[in-house]
Amino acid sequence: MNKINTLKKSKEMSPINTINHPLFTKHKVEVFIKRDDLIHPIISGNKWRKLKYNISAARKMGKTQILSFGGAYSNHIHALAYACKINNIKAIGIIRGEQHYQHNFTLSWASHWSMTLQFVDRKTYKLRHNEEFLAQLQQKYPNAYIIPEGGSNHLALPGVGEVITELNEQLEYDYLLTPVGSGGTLAGLINADQNQHKLLGIAVLKQDGYLTDEVNQLLAAHASNFENWEILNQFHRGGYGKYKTADTERILQFSQQAGVPFEPVYSGKMLLAFLDLLAQGYFQAGAKIVLLHTGGLQGLGGMAERGLLNADQWPIPAHAPNC
Ligand SMILES: Cc1ncc(COP(=O)(O)O)c(C=O)c1O
Repeated sequence: MNKINTLKKSKEMSPINTINHPLFTKHKVEVFIKRDDLIHPIISGNKWRKLKYNISAARKMGKTQILSFGGAYSNHIHALAYACKINNIKAIGIIRGEQHYQHNFTLSWASHWSMTLQFVDRKTYKLRHNEEFLAQLQQKYPNAYIIPEGGSNHLALPGVGEVITELNEQLEYDYLLTPVGSGGTLAGLINADQNQHKLLGIAVLKQDGYLTDEVNQLLAAHASNFENWEILNQFHRGGYGKYKTADTERILQFSQQAGVPFEPVYSGKMLLAFLDLLAQGYFQAGAKIVLLHTGGLQGLGGMAERGLLNADQWPIPAHAPNC
C-alpha cells in the first residue's frame, strides 16, 4: 500500500476511464472519469491530494501531531486519521456533535487508527476559523500542525494541481467537472490549469455565492488571472447531504451501467448535475468532458448505518482493521 509521502516520488497516476452511455451518443459528447477514488483504498480522492503536502509540511516542521476539524461523518477526518497513522503522526479530530457519534462508521475507524476525538457543540465548532480559537488550540497542542476543515488550505492546492498535470498527460479534453464543498479542490484545479480548460464546480450545498469568494481567497496568493471557471449553484438537491429517492435511483442506475461507484453527497451530485446539463444542451457536440471522482465512498457506511440508503445496493467499503 502506498504511503502518502511516497506517492510524490513515484510516477503513479490515478486511472482515467471512458464511460459509455446512450445519452452521450445522443448528445455527441465523449465522457471520461478521472478515478481519484482509486488512489488509495482509504485516503481516497481529493483527501489524498489535499493532505499530501500538508503532511510533508508537518513532518518538515518537526510536528508530532496533526489537528483538524470535521463533522461526525467527515471524509476528511476518516482519511486524516489513516494518513497520520501510516506516517507515525498523532491525529486529533475536533468533531462537531456529541460523544455518541464516536461509534459510527466513520469515527469508529478514525479511533481505530488512533485519532483522538474531541467532541464540541455547534457553537464552539463555528469558531473553527477564528484566529483566537485557533491560537488557544495551538497553545493546548503546541506540537500540532493545524489543518482547516476539509483540508482546504494553501498547501492543498499543489496536491490537487497534480490532477491537472496527470490529465494533461492522459488525454485532451474541454471540460472538467468537480464537486465543491469547501472550495479547496476547485481552487487547486484552477491554479494548475491556468485557463486551459473550462472548469465547472458543482456546489453540493445550498449557498449564495460564498464558495466563489472562498475559491478566490485560496487563489489570491497566485498572481495569475483565472477566468475559465464557474461554480454552478443550482444542483445541491436540497442542501448538503440531502437527496431524494429519485436522485439515488438515477445514481445507482448510472453506476451499474457505467461500472463506476458513486455516493450521493459529492460524486453522485456532480454526476446528476452533469446529466442535467447534458440534457439542457449545455455541452456542444464533440465536447470532451472529464468528471473528477473525488472519492468519499466511506461516507456510504454512515448513510447505510442511519438507514438513509439500502446497504445491499451500494458499494459500502469494508476496510479490514489491520489494513
Ligand atoms: C469526497 C469529496 N468530494 C468532494 C469534496 C469537495 O471538496 P472541497 O471541500 O475541496 O470543495 C469533499 C469535501 O472535501 C469530499 O469529501
